[in-house]
Amino acid sequence: MRLLITGGAGFIGSNLVRLALAEGVDVTVLDDLSTGYREYLDGLDVRFSEASVLDAAAVADALVNVDSVIHLARSGAFRAASRTRSGRTPRTRPAPSYCSRRCAGPG
Ligand SMILES: NC(=O)c1ccc[n+]([C@@H]2O[C@H](COP(=O)([O-])OP(=O)(O)OC[C@H]3O[C@@H](n4cnc5c(N)ncnc54)[C@H](O)[C@@H]3O)[C@@H](O)[C@H]2O)c1
Repeated sequence: MRLLITGGAGFIGSNLVRLALAEGVDVTVLDDLSTGYREYLDGLDVRFSEASVLDAAAVADALVNVDSVIHLARSGAFRAASRTRSGRTPRTRPAPSYCSRRCAGPG
């Protein structure tokens, strides 16, 4: 199995890369290193593409022979950009109703 992890050089992504490799999964990482670190992947047997998920050609290339994608890339500017003039970050919108029906755990 081959897995593409966007944002794989980030905090969560790099830990996920390690878990996937330990399970024998072939891993491709697509990360623009805007907030991540190439060093997080040092010594790991991954195919690494330093590019943005906004780069359609790079994404198409990274998807070759990939079975599944885990999308963790996010811009560190997101939180800052979502702040209101008062400096507060708006509350997260409630989960859509389909989630409360389909995503709830057992019971
Ligand atoms: N860390 C948390 O506590 C937490 C909690 C809930 C959800 N999340 C979600 O998990 C995901 C990863 O979080 P994290 O804490 O590992 O963040 P992180 O900043 O450490 O990792 C994000 C990675 O995405 C990369 N990236 C950013 N923009 C990119 C782009 N345009 N193209 C390619 N790569 C890009 C960055 O270089 C970085 O390596 C995010 O979607 C975040 O919203 C994180």
